[in-house]
Amino acid sequence: MTATDSSLPTLQLTREGRLKHFLTLDGLDQALLTDILDTADSFIEVGERSIKKVPLLRGRTVVNLFFESSTRTRSTFELAAKRLSADVLNLDINTSATSKGETLSDTLLNLEAMASDMFVVRHSQSGAPHFIAETVTPGVAIINAGDGRHAHPTQAMLDMLTIRQHKGQFAGLKVAIVGDILHSRVARSQIRALNTLGVEEVRVIAPATLLPKDVESLGCKVEYDMRHGLRDLDVIIMLRLQRERMEGALLPSEREFYRLYGLNEEKLALADSRCIVMHPGPINRGVEIESAVADGPQSVILNQVTNGIAVRMAVMSMAMSGQVSERVQPGEGAGQ
Ligand code: NCD
Repeated sequence: MTATDSSLPTLQLTREGRLKHFLTLDGLDQALLTDILDTADSFIEVGERSIKKVPLLRGRTVVNLFFESSTRTRSTFELAAKRLSADVLNLDINTSATSKGETLSDTLLNLEAMASDMFVVRHSQSGAPHFIAETVTPGVAIINAGDGRHAHPTQAMLDMLTIRQHKGQFAGLKVAIVGDILHSRVARSQIRALNTLGVEEVRVIAPATLLPKDVESLGCKVEYDMRHGLRDLDVIIMLRLQRERMEGALLPSEREFYRLYGLNEEKLALADSRCIVMHPGPINRGVEIESAVADGPQSVILNQVTNGIAVRMAVMSMAMSGQVSERVQPGEGAGQ
């Protein structure tokens, strides 16, 4: 299964250019990404109320389909759906019929027969959410919660919301992504989002063995020397070593990796003094980031988690409303 991103704009957008699935940031323009951030901003206030609910997905059924492990993403998708008043089904793949040999297509047909309105999909195969979006019943929205090394668009958008909150705007920012770029779907989506939103510079800092061959063509500069690469930065995004996706020995040792590419207070001092430190989680303390930095005053790692709920509420409500608008015949109203 491969992702053919050239066909995605038509697959994930309605004829009017509204979101109806959320599979990748490829093909989405600055206006749409800004709309997602603005909509997410409006949901932040909902999370601060004593009753954290709005009725936008009332009566809708959202199925969380996680074929790979997850803590933050799965729980924030669940909370987001519940705060939108949807009914939420969390399918535990380890105890579902997938472990008895049922194919993905058959699992989906059964879930569609239960009148589901949205599938939130995480899968180890790049392109799995795309495949589902092509085959699913019209009207059902597919949200990518991370597919293989390909994309993790909601993670990138919650990162963009966090950057905008702390820095005000994207123009003029220098942002570095550090560590295991090769296996990171998060990095791919972040590079795309940062470029679309118009930052001044995206840098990737990593050993050559942890960079994809085509990395510069994604829209970034490459630095192999972290101390050199950290200069003048406004934002540092650290990544976990994705051991589960590594084939063969790509690293001398974890200790050597930490010495060269781990973020400690001494290296952080090389960046701008107002530089923020981000990480999609899960963090591995002492492998890519020192505790003093992860828990320090420049870290916004837990803000990212909080923002994940608002961004996922935005994407889910926008995709559902796009699906509804597409099924409304000309002359009918587009209310949900
Ligand atoms: C990331 C993922 O699963 O791609 N985590 C996340 O969604 N917050 C990154 C990782 O696993 O290292």
